[in-house]
Amino acid sequence: METVLQQIDREHLPKHVAIIMDGNGRWAKERGEDRLFGHLHGVQSVRDIVEASAEIGIQYLTLYAFSTENWDRPQAEVAGLMELLVNTVRREVDQMKKNGIRLHVIGDFSMLPPSARQELSEALEMTAENDHLHLILALSYSGRWDLTQAFRQLAQKVLAGELYTESIDADVISAHLATRNFPDPELMIRSSGEHRISNFLLYQLAYAELYFTETLWPDFRRQHLYEALIDYQQRERRFGKTSEQLTP
Ligand code: IPE
Ligand code: IPE
Ligand code: MG
Repeated sequence: METVLQQIDREHLPKHVAIIMDGNGRWAKERGEDRLFGHLHGVQSVRDIVEASAEIGIQYLTLYAFSTENWDRPQAEVAGLMELLVNTVRREVDQMKKNGIRLHVIGDFSMLPPSARQELSEALEMTAENDHLHLILALSYSGRWDLTQAFRQLAQKVLAGELYTESIDADVISAHLATRNFPDPELMIRSSGEHRISNFLLYQLAYAELYFTETLWPDFRRQHLYEALIDYQQRERRFGKTSEQLTP
């Protein structure tokens, strides 16, 4: 029998997959545990998905780990998540380096505790030579934050006489977003049955295929990623054209 993995056409993989890792809290609640127990188990899913993405040949993987809105969660949960982040990055960085994974972070770092900033900047430096898989952590990130910081940069350049307002187009805007070095995601996955974007990559997802699964993030493993990729490959991406225009 053909396995799920064999059904994936390696020639037509999305270059960039973005994931909203959601459902850790509900996963923990189902087990009568604290929300942090869910986040802890969510890390196993991250490891499996990063490994599988690198193996299959996805070039960019963006994981929504913490939104700017998540700062408003109970202080103990925020502190627990930050500690988990620091410990996970510290523990995984050697393996990432060996596996050709380059770490990137996008988000409002001014909000992060110094320990997290320190750990992240070391990991960025340690993996800077890699280019097999670009792993982009969206941390203290939101789409509106990203657009706001881009508009500020653009306004400053116009004021300084470095940029004509007439020159501002979609590509110039993209080049000022936190994702400037990465292509737009072709596929966005959200776990846990919620059908919303929650302030993720608002501009960059313009033509992404959206895939929603009921699976809670701590249960999300590589076979779920494969299913999403197969679903993606069965879709017709028209970009505003008609179906007939696509098949010559
Ligand atoms: C996603 O899981 C992880 C973060 C937002 C940090 P949640 O913590 O949102 O889990 P649910 O949605 O409450 O189940
Ligand atoms: C989105 O999940 C943010 C992350 C997964 C990091 P949330 O759980 O915060 O989103 P809402 O509150 O359900 O929209
Ligand atoms: Mg949630």
